[in-house]
Amino acid sequence: MSVSETRPFPTDFLFGAATAAYQIEGAAFEDGRTASIWDAFARVPGAVINADNGDVACDHYHRYRDDVALMQRLGLQTYRFSTSWSRVRPDGGAVNPAGLDFYKRLVDELREADIIPWLTLYHWDMPQALEEKGGWTSRETADRFAEYALSVHDALGDRVDIWTTLNEPWCSSFLGYTAGVHAPGRQSVTDGVLAAHHLLLGHGTVVRELRARDAELELGITLNLTVAEPVDPADPADVDAARRIDGQFNRWFLDPIFRGEYPGDILGDLVTVDAAARAALDAAILPGDLETIATPIDSLGVNYYHGEFVGGHEAPNPPRPGEAPTDREGRSPFPSHEGIFWHERGLPRTSMNWEVQPEGLTILLERVWEEYARPAGTTLYVTENGAAYDDVVTMSESGPRVHDEERREFVRMHLGAVLDAIAAGVDVRGYFYWSLLDNYEWAWGYEKRFGIVRVDYDTQERTVKDSGLEYGRIIAARALDP
Ligand code: NOJ
Repeated sequence: MSVSETRPFPTDFLFGAATAAYQIEGAAFEDGRTASIWDAFARVPGAVINADNGDVACDHYHRYRDDVALMQRLGLQTYRFSTSWSRVRPDGGAVNPAGLDFYKRLVDELREADIIPWLTLYHWDMPQALEEKGGWTSRETADRFAEYALSVHDALGDRVDIWTTLNEPWCSSFLGYTAGVHAPGRQSVTDGVLAAHHLLLGHGTVVRELRARDAELELGITLNLTVAEPVDPADPADVDAARRIDGQFNRWFLDPIFRGEYPGDILGDLVTVDAAARAALDAAILPGDLETIATPIDSLGVNYYHGEFVGGHEAPNPPRPGEAPTDREGRSPFPSHEGIFWHERGLPRTSMNWEVQPEGLTILLERVWEEYARPAGTTLYVTENGAAYDDVVTMSESGPRVHDEERREFVRMHLGAVLDAIAAGVDVRGYFYWSLLDNYEWAWGYEKRFGIVRVDYDTQERTVKDSGLEYGRIIAARALDP
């Protein structure tokens, strides 16, 4: 919606930015940290562009004080970061006090700067030693995850109030175990559905345990959600393509978390496409699992980047823009993918080749609110939204500048979409831009830059981009001007 008036945000609305441990910390083998699945995957030939890895990344482990000062300069009210399992419990084993100390220092620094720490326990970096014992396809991993979560809470429970269990379990399971384009790089439908189940089980177990320890904590999960639109809503094949994308992307996670059941239509499709995978999933769901997974949460984090425009008839367009440059052996992350075609609808695209569709965020928030969150008494946050563009650095008298007009507009349009959802009655309590810093974009390495702050990877110099200056202005005004 385009408006000519200044639009204020609700007084309790939180503005933040997000990052994740492996993408920014570096110090990959310092103070007792051992390898995660991403350290291992980054070393698989051809898995990551330029064979980039997170050994140094943004060197945030050593520069966190400066980075917190930068957040303060931008006026951020909250900062969403993740803890590294391999730092806290190297190899998934005993607790490593030196690893926990880093997060204590970081959290103390944030609190001193009046920035609310928002902690995510799992942002894709399981210890490699656990992958060698089966990883997320093994039920034991959910128990190891709960032990790890409790040890983070032992150390930080007195100073962190907001906890997210998992970030985007769809990616961890279906990109990591079915498409194989993310760590650990397995390519099996069975492994993907088992991983999804055990991730959800780990989530539910941790919510239950943390709730029992401290009823005051704000607990939740972050899902990457999309809007699947059929090319022709009157064409049954197009509608069915959209149903399958929605089911496998959104409802596979939303339904068990909010309703304690997997979506029936998707389970039905799974028998048809891979009966062995369906049988393995049935065998993995033990009595009580779905109740655990449906343990009530306080807030749902919505990560929104782009929608999906799909049909059931062959399209003269390229396939779905993937999350990785290397669609290794062309495996789809979707167990049921035959006959789904992505179509072009003429929207602008980011350098990830993702469509820019801010109205999709409003539609998504309204839908998730009505169908899932509101009935459960759960609030919503946009825990990620952002864009990669090919930034250009120019020199000015005051130093380097990045005039990233497209990202600046992207942020403004998506904040406008959040305001539209609020105006429609959706209880959205905050927005986190992804990401604070340019960082390690997984299989894309350092090639894709999402930051509102540029990182020069040779010098580690940080430069606030024009989009960051604009975000800071919006936060200070607590309003979007025309
Ligand atoms: C979602 C993920 O949580 C984050 O790690 C990633 O960098 C962004 N999407 C951009 O792809």
